[in-house]
Amino acid sequence: RAPIVLDSDPGIDDAVALQYLLGTGRWDLRAYTSVGGNLPAGQTYRNARALARALRIDTDVPVHRGAARPLTRLPYTAAAHFHGPEGLGQETLPDSTAGHLTESSAQALLRLSREHEGELTVCATGPLTNVAIALLEDPAFAHRVRKFVFMGGNAQVPGNITPVAEFNMWADPDAAEVVLSSGIPFTMVDLDASHRWLFGPADLAALEAAGAGAALAARLLRVYIDSYRRHGGGDSCPLHDPLAVGVCADESFVTLAEGAVVVECASELTRGQTVFVPSAAQRNYYTESPALTARTRHMGRVALGPGPRDFTK
Ligand code: BDR
Ligand code: CA
Repeated sequence: RAPIVLDSDPGIDDAVALQYLLGTGRWDLRAYTSVGGNLPAGQTYRNARALARALRIDTDVPVHRGAARPLTRLPYTAAAHFHGPEGLGQETLPDSTAGHLTESSAQALLRLSREHEGELTVCATGPLTNVAIALLEDPAFAHRVRKFVFMGGNAQVPGNITPVAEFNMWADPDAAEVVLSSGIPFTMVDLDASHRWLFGPADLAALEAAGAGAALAARLLRVYIDSYRRHGGGDSCPLHDPLAVGVCADESFVTLAEGAVVVECASELTRGQTVFVPSAAQRNYYTESPALTARTRHMGRVALGPGPRDFTK
């Protein structure tokens, strides 16, 4: 099994992403690093510990606390209307009895990148604060990870927290910009793909019938569907964060294009917007600018839509 770190702001779909990761049996989860996002860092840390206990991994998988706030901005505090008062739907899960670790999420990422140099996959399903802190402390982190897959951004479709921005990028745009300009081998699993990976009533019924092992995920996703319904999303919810976990193992979940991504950090109106800069071959009709050309030194892969793979398999 390959080593992976899940860096996450649980969060309903983050919680389901963790269950999915464990359920695949493919991964050796070396750490579950929490980050502030859907709720402030203290609450997502508590949720991460509680989930580790509920899923019976808290004696094997260390849970780390993320930075107290985004790199330069105030924490966002209002995602409770989507994820429930404490971030996990209606669940009130007991805290883990494991001791609290002094090593932060960013420190754990750095250590594990050294212990598993060239082998470690990092999957981020929240704002990129921890990953940015790791890179600011040691830029070589970018070259030690095998693969960095994150859920965030929007290449060609509208945003979900503002007309142009996706939540994870908007919550800490400065961190996202540090990460995407670092040279890390990134794969961006964005709204272009996740808004077309929908989980609906028939999927929920199947999950509810799947037995005790699926009960927590089913309860969480029932609440998530309700949240999307209340916000005009119809009868289904996107599986944003599980999709990122899926892509870590199998890229056929999405259709990828090569390109760079620049994150808007200056404007408040377009804060967190991700500008997809396609590779030169597809860019021949753009006016080249030094900024654009410079950024193409840091290409990654960006999802432009869902792929042929069926998520349920
Ligand atoms: C992202 O925002 C969060 O609320 C979800 O957990 C997901 O990571 C989708 O924009
Ligand atoms: Ca998330």
